[in-house]
This record gives sequence, structure tokens and C-alpha cells, in this order.
Amino acid sequence: MPLPKSYTPTGRNSRLLAPTPSSAPTPDSDPHPPAPPGGTDHPAPPGSGPGYADTFAADYDRWFGKPGITGATVDALVGLSGTGPVLELGVGTGRIALALSQRGIRVHGIDASEAMIRRLRDKPGGTEITVHIGDFSHVDVPDRYSLIYLAGGTFFELADTEAKQRCLAAARARLKPGGLLVFDAHLPEALAVASASGTPEVVAETDERLILCHRRIDASTQTYQSHYLIHEADRTRHLRVAFHYASPGELDLMAHKAGLRLVRRQGTWAGAPFTRESAYHVSVYEIGAAEES
Ligand SMILES: C[S@@+](CC[C@H](N)C(=O)[O-])C[C@H]1O[C@@H](n2cnc3c(N)ncnc32)[C@H](O)[C@@H]1O
Repeated sequence: MPLPKSYTPTGRNSRLLAPTPSSAPTPDSDPHPPAPPGGTDHPAPPGSGPGYADTFAADYDRWFGKPGITGATVDALVGLSGTGPVLELGVGTGRIALALSQRGIRVHGIDASEAMIRRLRDKPGGTEITVHIGDFSHVDVPDRYSLIYLAGGTFFELADTEAKQRCLAAARARLKPGGLLVFDAHLPEALAVASASGTPEVVAETDERLILCHRRIDASTQTYQSHYLIHEADRTRHLRVAFHYASPGELDLMAHKAGLRLVRRQGTWAGAPFTRESAYHVSVYEIGAAEES
């Protein structure tokens, strides 16, 4: 049976979702109109990524749990979370969202994959997260947030510049005054070097499994495919994820057009500086002036 488009925690936890008067948005400070109430009305577009998510939802945490990076990501987001609530775009199985919720932060999420959301809901604390099913590029949710974030390279799962631009503008419209937007992303140059080397990255190597990743980049379409080979229990599976990439400069320009301004860019979630050696970045945007058209 399909899940309803929007879940809201009920019972003892529902009060956690009530907006606090001190953090309610004011018409003066935010010119963007609110989205219609209820869940998102935008099903995920074909090829946006949920195919792999539906297929491998049961395996996702085992393969991509990333304990070290997850801890650093959660710590960074706690520091940026403000008064809450916070919203994760592409919340998946709740790798980040559940940890934030356990730290006392009210967390909402959007995801297109019902299978991933089922996993989230089945975990301890999963029902405390308000989840909307749909295409996160529209950020079609009724609430406003002190922090909207994406993790795990998910922003590049949006298939083209138009979807990214739409997402940034919609996220901007859902931010409270003083709110922040944060996401991580690979640097195209580093992707190109890794792709050309032909040497796969060892994502995980334990007694139980070996996970290798090869990224094949196509500069003519600004896309790359991550090919994961997962060997465990004498079986090898092949998982493909399609991405559309953008340089930091392009991202900042899109953000500027959406009324967002870069606050800082770091090389990792743990706060390493962003330097010429960086292969990755974590970028934090705040509300800025919308571009005059
Ligand atoms: C790589 S997983 C990351 C999940 C989680 N953020 C994490 O870090 O563990 C990406 C998630 O984004 C979802 N997704 C990808 N494109 C989407 C879209 N356009 N709209 C909604 N969800 C999307 C997928 O279904 C998947 O659950």
C-alpha cells in the first residue's frame, strides 16, 4: 500500500512540531509567499535518483552508513541548526536526520523514495520526524526552517541546472529570517582527475564486504555516474547513481539568483579549510538580496 504523502508525528511528540512564537516568520522580513499546506504535490521526476534508492533501501545503511563522516556531519549541522525546525532534502533512511532528532532538534524531511522512508520510519525515533514524499527540488512544504540541508552529495542528484535553481529558490522561500542552507558537493576538477585515473575508490573494506566506486564523468553534459561494486556474502551487486555537477562558482551564482549568499565554504564537514587540495566542499548560504530581474 503506498504511503501517504505527508507524515506528522502524533501523540506525545506532536507538540515538538508547534512553531515557537519567537521564531515565526514575519511578512516584512520575508517577501516570498508560503507554499500550500500539506505534503508536496511533486512526484519525483524520472531519472532523479530514487530508482537506486527504492532498489537498495534495505542495504543502504549497511553499505553507506559512514559512521565517521556521519558524526562530523551531525556535529556541524547541530551548530548551524538555530531554533529549528530543520529540513533535510533527500532525507533517505534518516542517517543524519535521526541523529539530529536525538540531539533535541525538530527535523523534517523530503524524499521521493517510499522504500527509503519506510526504513526511516521503522527505526527508533523514526516516527518523530515529519516526512513529505515527493521531489525535493520544489521544497513544497508548509513550514519554515532555521536550517535546510542536504548531505551525502545529494544536491547533485538533481538532474540539471534548472532543477538546482528551482530548488535553491524554493528552499530560500522556506527559510526563516536568519535561516541557513547547507550542502556538500564534489569538486568537478577532482571528479575528472579520479575518473581519468581509472582507479576505483575503496569506499568500505571489512571482513563482511568490499565496496568500490568508480565515477565516470561526462563534461559535455556536466554529469557523472557513480558505479558502486558491492561484494558481500559471495555476491557482487552493481549500483549506479546519476549526478549532474556544478562548480562552486556556478553554485554561488545560482544561489545569488535565488536570493542566497555564501557565508563560508569548508573542505569537509569536520571543518577542514577549503584549499587547492580539496576534492569536496561544504557550503553554507544565508538569505541575501534577491537578484533584480
Ligand atoms: C544518497 S541518498 C542520501 C540520503 C541521506 N541524505 C543520507 O545522507 O544518508 C539520496 C536520497 O535522495 C533522494 N532523492 C534523490 N533525488 C530526489 C528528488 N529529486 N526528490 C526527492 N528525493 C530525492 C533519494 O531517494 C535518496 O533517498
